[in-house]
Amino acid sequence: MADFSGPPLREELEGFEPYGAPQLDVPVLLNVNENPYPPSQAVVDDIARAVTEAAGGLNRYPDREFLALRNDLAAYLGAESGADLTGEQVWAANGSNEVMLHLLQAFGGPGRTALSFAPTYSMYPEYARDTNTTWVTGRRETDFTIDVEHALATLAEHRPSVVLLASPNNPTGTALPLDVIERITKTCAELPCVVVVDEAYGEFRRAGTPSAVTLLPSYRNLAVARTMSKAFALAGARVGYLAAGRDLVDALRIVRLPYHLSAVTQAVARAALRHRDELLGRVAELRTARDETVEWLRARGLEAVDSDANFVLFGRFADRHGVWQAVLADGVLIRETGPDGWLRVSIGSPAENDAFRRSLTAYLDRVPEATVSEVQA
Ligand SMILES: Cc1ncc(COP(=O)(O)O)c(C=O)c1O
Repeated sequence: MADFSGPPLREELEGFEPYGAPQLDVPVLLNVNENPYPPSQAVVDDIARAVTEAAGGLNRYPDREFLALRNDLAAYLGAESGADLTGEQVWAANGSNEVMLHLLQAFGGPGRTALSFAPTYSMYPEYARDTNTTWVTGRRETDFTIDVEHALATLAEHRPSVVLLASPNNPTGTALPLDVIERITKTCAELPCVVVVDEAYGEFRRAGTPSAVTLLPSYRNLAVARTMSKAFALAGARVGYLAAGRDLVDALRIVRLPYHLSAVTQAVARAALRHRDELLGRVAELRTARDETVEWLRARGLEAVDSDANFVLFGRFADRHGVWQAVLADGVLIRETGPDGWLRVSIGSPAENDAFRRSLTAYLDRVPEATVSEVQA
């Protein structure tokens, strides 16, 4: 911004860099929790056919309400989470980031507060900042769970309008028990406050962990956000969505820009949903590889957090940046994120996971004093 001679940036944006993990051209990308498997040629061909059909009508604005896509998403999410949903209860946008920004635009704003429990997804404070919403965090415990009594006390103190609960949480992988979500949601209903359960990694949750979608019939102040970027292997298409009561969805329709979801995006998402079995076909394999990664890290003497997502937080290192750089020098990009001393690795293909393990093993052999049990503040 140094040479910009226009009006000063809004005060609350001063000093910020654009958000985003480094996008580096290296062979092994394990830094943004993508699905490592591209679509098969048959799926590519079907998506291309759908795009060709949509291209024939690109002189017209797209369907603003995109109910056909919302119906498809409702059918998928209902089946995945064991709930009954209609298209009117579903909302979608360009990634779940945009869906959650819509929520803050509708329910945040000047004089209002959004709240989450840290460490958590680093975009949440940005939604708040961009919508002029006060941002407050409570804490997660040392095992990254949320203590309900602390959560309820934090709600009482700050009386937020929006609570964001990532489950499974990024960067820790921790899923919240349904009773924790329910107690927070019940208290929020009285404030009143909207609770957003961000299930971006929901499909990777371990067996027996229910989705918060099953709570929707009981709470009109609850929204559950999902994305096609992770398990669905469709990060490049930018499609995220949420399920909630109809009233809440209708509130989001007020703040969306007209025609925010292009005809091409709608066509790609619908084609991908027709191939859900194939696109989601590697989820079980990725879950197994995730659990093996946790065990492998622990066997190497490291701490690794149990994960319900497609990544693992591990540490703790005296010099996590040094570890990140050493692994990068071997062509493996992981993420320097989370509390001091921790790093996050996404689960890749077997060859990619092996490359990560080889590189980390070499580092630990070279620097035997690399790990610490507590990171000094
Ligand atoms: C917890 C969480 N929520 C939401 C998102 C946003 O995903 P997208 O905008 O691609 O749907 C991410 C992406 O990494 C995430 O980790």
